[in-house]
Amino acid sequence: MAGPLMPQEQLEEIMANYGLSERAAQNMSHFLPWDMLEETRKSLRSPSNPDGVQVLISVLLLSNNVFLGVAENPLLYDDVVEFIKENLYLNPDEQFGYGVGPRGAPRLKMALASFFKSNFHAKKPVLEKEMLILPGVGGVTDALVWAICNEGEALIIPVPFWSGISQGVGERACGRLVPATYESLEGYKDADDLFDPEMNRKALENALDRAAKDNIKVRGVMLCNPHNPLGRCYPAETLKEIARFCGKHDLHLVCDEVFAMSTYENPDFPAAVPFISALSLNFEDEMNPHKVHVAYGMGKDFCIGGFRCGVLHSRNEGLITAVSTISVLQWVPYIVQDIWASMLLDDKMRVGFMEKNHRLLAEHSSILTTFLKKHDIPFYAKINAGMFAWVNLQRYIYDKSLQEYKPDFSATELFRSNYKLYRDRELKLWERLLASGVGLGLGTWYSSEEPGWFRISFTVAKDDLHIGLERLVKVLGEVEAEGWT
Ligand SMILES: Cc1ncc(COP(=O)(O)O)c(C=O)c1O
Repeated sequence: MAGPLMPQEQLEEIMANYGLSERAAQNMSHFLPWDMLEETRKSLRSPSNPDGVQVLISVLLLSNNVFLGVAENPLLYDDVVEFIKENLYLNPDEQFGYGVGPRGAPRLKMALASFFKSNFHAKKPVLEKEMLILPGVGGVTDALVWAICNEGEALIIPVPFWSGISQGVGERACGRLVPATYESLEGYKDADDLFDPEMNRKALENALDRAAKDNIKVRGVMLCNPHNPLGRCYPAETLKEIARFCGKHDLHLVCDEVFAMSTYENPDFPAAVPFISALSLNFEDEMNPHKVHVAYGMGKDFCIGGFRCGVLHSRNEGLITAVSTISVLQWVPYIVQDIWASMLLDDKMRVGFMEKNHRLLAEHSSILTTFLKKHDIPFYAKINAGMFAWVNLQRYIYDKSLQEYKPDFSATELFRSNYKLYRDRELKLWERLLASGVGLGLGTWYSSEEPGWFRISFTVAKDDLHIGLERLVKVLGEVEAEGWT
């Protein structure tokens, strides 16, 4: 899933024209979003540009049907600005030079160790030497895959998943992803099964068998907890089952916990389990703990994705040493590390900030879901984490003449049997929405099993959220009235 290989002739032409390595030339077949991203950002809705695009997924895309979606949370930007203004200090001795080197500032690691204890409930003390500071969770994924996978080797990942992971896995480290799928499993009922221990075991075993048939060597499992795009946390029993699977097949377990603290109360889902970190379970009984690696960052829970600061935690001394050799090439500025450390170390700020974030996430999630319910638009409702909801717009891409369709998520066969047609309509609907000023996350980007699902982010200002949603229903109404010919 690092993208289909380019025909040899075209590859050689690119290599010759630009003097590129085969590896770099291969990446040129990937669709690059940056021109489009720069253009889209110029036309975003704002007080001076009220008709501009309202992005309800804060933006987009990449490589051969694989796209990069960025979930941002600007709701607390003012708080962050205020904190930085008051707490930023310049210390040339520690920040301007090469300091302690690329592995990360001791002050930040100390702050993280204490944070992992208090907020992730780490079972064992987290030690400085077990952590490396890298450019965001994307940087951690790239480094981990580089260390774990030889070229073309794979991690299994449950679908749907955030498409940016494909970049972390494939673009430089040249690993690939093998999707674990659920809907064709015996006994599959609905998306709740994605959090069920036994269904996960079956899905992972299937994926491993499929990879073996395709001659793909699997090195590990990649798990996003909380789940993106479903917005739900995994129960402990399911995490243990996944770890048991890794133990049984001697695989690595990479836990992307970037949304760990972006959880909230959802009155419609009172039985929600809270976030449970791999650090708190430790998995000693299930698998080799040296093969468990946790990725975390300041991008989501601390609302500053643009600072590009993340942390890799692993008790695997060899892996940490190996990654240290390349961390010199992707170093996070000390000044950024110090800002994160200050946020973590200031108890009053951290606790107040997180509480406010939970409250705002709950409020904005409720605005979105109340709106969807009012307009009879189905969505995955068991959410309590992240900044988005996974929304079913299949009603707007199917042929009304097909009476089999029921808007209760049971249309799997219908959408499977006409897969290409419905994928095409999914894209056309997305394009039409974008042209009408509202950008959503397209199901294809998340490798959804069925066409017709979209991810809608709710962490934009309330006015913007309302405007975006009104634009959405307007277009949906038009599409429904027109039908598809
Ligand atoms: C599941 C997941 N992991 C990682 C990232 C990227 O994190 P970072 O900005 O720290 O690279 C994202 C961003 O949307 C994400 O959704």
